[in-house]
Amino acid sequence: MSTIMTNKITAKQAIELEDKHGAHNYHPLPVVLERGEGVYVWDVDGKQYFDFLAAYSAVNQGHCHPKIVSALVEQAQKLTLTSRAFYNDSLGEYEKFITAYFGFDKVLPMNTGAEGVETALKLARKWAYEKKGVAENEAKIIVCKNNFHGRTISIVSASNDPDARQNFGPFTPGIMAVEYNNVADLEKTLNEYGKTSAAFLIEPIQGEAGVIVPDEGYLKKCYDLCKAHNVLFIADEIQSGLGRTGKRLACDHEGVHPDMLILGKALSGGTYPVSAVLANDDIMLCIKPGQHGSTYGGNPMACKVGITALTVLKEEKLSENSERLGKILLSELKAIQASHPEIVKAVRGKGLWAAMVINEKNGKTAWDVCIDLMNNGLLAKPTHGDTIRFAPPLVINEEQLMECVSIIRKVIKNF
Ligand SMILES: Cc1ncc(COP(=O)(O)O)c(C=O)c1O
Repeated sequence: MSTIMTNKITAKQAIELEDKHGAHNYHPLPVVLERGEGVYVWDVDGKQYFDFLAAYSAVNQGHCHPKIVSALVEQAQKLTLTSRAFYNDSLGEYEKFITAYFGFDKVLPMNTGAEGVETALKLARKWAYEKKGVAENEAKIIVCKNNFHGRTISIVSASNDPDARQNFGPFTPGIMAVEYNNVADLEKTLNEYGKTSAAFLIEPIQGEAGVIVPDEGYLKKCYDLCKAHNVLFIADEIQSGLGRTGKRLACDHEGVHPDMLILGKALSGGTYPVSAVLANDDIMLCIKPGQHGSTYGGNPMACKVGITALTVLKEEKLSENSERLGKILLSELKAIQASHPEIVKAVRGKGLWAAMVINEKNGKTAWDVCIDLMNNGLLAKPTHGDTIRFAPPLVINEEQLMECVSIIRKVIKNF
């Protein structure tokens, strides 16, 4: 007879198990989480933390949002997966809902963010050959330097991060990079390669690069240049979208309606992998049956979860909360920087999405700041060595935010 393990795992055991049996493709903070609710998570010893990463902005609606979890459980008990070999009774409803929500004719449902980006790139190439008239195998994709769009071979082909690329070649051809936040560089590239370019792929705010906010007007100018050259403007809003920057989408700050919109992460509120590419018919209908797909893409659980996650964003006014509290967060972080300029090199952000750049001191880095924050009950993670990203669930309230600010202030003061 088999025995059911009821003994709780210790933090040490959990870390050792991952270390021994899992690939070493991540370097987590040494905290083992067991439970989450709203802005809080608890470790296996019952210690409570503020989650200031929100699973890289997947948990914008807060951990285990009851409405999203209910939608998931309800559908899981009814029908989970049909594949797209058959119709299901949830997909059409979801497609109608999400296309109306964002103002596009059609959606192509996928699962992870990287799949969404791959889908957009394939769609852009197809459109370039079949609608724009680019000669076979000549289509170019223009990306921005220091981008992060995921981990597949084609996507890392668009990266200039040595960790993302080294020894993963040969790479996908036909990808060119321009400087981010540099209109003239895009213009020069389009003047030279506009005729053969399919698309310009951009994060409206660069997340993994360290919450790099471009100059006001940059996105609109890029969009207008793309229009002038008949090049598709693709916004990767997988991390910047869904309320994170204080608007429904980061593109909304400049009134830009992209030709293709890629969403993921918070499209499920962190409960399930759900991603999507949205576009109008002239682009989307370039892909015909059999030319692209995914077994799980558009499954009934994803559809119900997607509708509910987007409904929660609107009903709970999470973009509005992000905009209001984001301003407070940024000004408080700037005040901390002003008091400790020898430790905090820079602060930037938009909405509830901020970054603090840390000066290395006595061999101590942003990683050590994150360890101190963890010990004081706040979880955040360094990105690119010296930068700490702050991205709490958007359900946070002002009192909780101020408690977090005082933790950050205390840690920086004592660093
Ligand atoms: C802007 C952006 N695009 C794409 C991705 C990839 O998403 P996933 O990890 O779900 O493949 C990420 C993940 O962090 C991202 O931030």
